[in-house]
Amino acid sequence: MIRELQWNDMNDLIDNYYSYYEEVKRDPEFGITFFHARPSFESEVGWFSNLYENVLKGDAFVKVAIEDGRVVGICDIHRIRPGTEVSHNGVLGIAIKEGYRNKGIGKALITSALESAKGKLEIVTLSVFTINKRALTLYRNLGFIDYGMRPKSIKRGNRYFDELYMYILL
Ligand SMILES: CC(C)(COP(=O)(O)OP(=O)(O)OC[C@H]1O[C@@H](n2cnc3c(N)ncnc32)[C@H](O)[C@@H]1OP(=O)(O)O)[C@@H](O)C(=O)NCCC(=O)NCCS
Repeated sequence: MIRELQWNDMNDLIDNYYSYYEEVKRDPEFGITFFHARPSFESEVGWFSNLYENVLKGDAFVKVAIEDGRVVGICDIHRIRPGTEVSHNGVLGIAIKEGYRNKGIGKALITSALESAKGKLEIVTLSVFTINKRALTLYRNLGFIDYGMRPKSIKRGNRYFDELYMYILL
């Protein structure tokens, strides 16, 4: 099931986020960018409160996927610098918990989040590790278009990853 973000999704989302810090230890190519140290629970609560506030203000469009009675994925599109000449742009981020990937949840989440941003944003951009073939396939299938690449954009330990930039017009 795909639905709007709810206030009581916080604990599941923080659990999921912390699980990615464990996953990257097993999979050094894991495709989201991390802080050097896992953020504290307090700062995660701050992150969630800010996200929820932006949803209420119409500056974030967030969908979550529910499976087995808990949140297993999130897609967030947030408005860039609200109230400025760039605020017709949004940035998309997505992550799905291990065990629930490659089943169409990503496609459903992004489709739904883009739908809710229509009429409120005009352009949505994202960035993706060039080696993240699953994410790249998904974004291209949904109509995202490449517009650039930043070499060595991410530094993880002593390894660098290139980042591809993509956009879609709503
Ligand atoms: C990337 C991610 C969001 C995609 O969501 P998902 O639910 O797994 O994706 P879907 O099942 O909707 O679609 C995946 C598509 O990639 C394809 N795919 C899977 N593995 C692939 C691979 N190794 N190479 C190319 N394509 C691949 C699938 O066939 C599917 O395409 P199809 O619909 O044409 O069959 C999810 O896997 C995830 O959260 N990964 C970890 C975090 C991450 O990488 N986030 C993205 C940051 S930019």
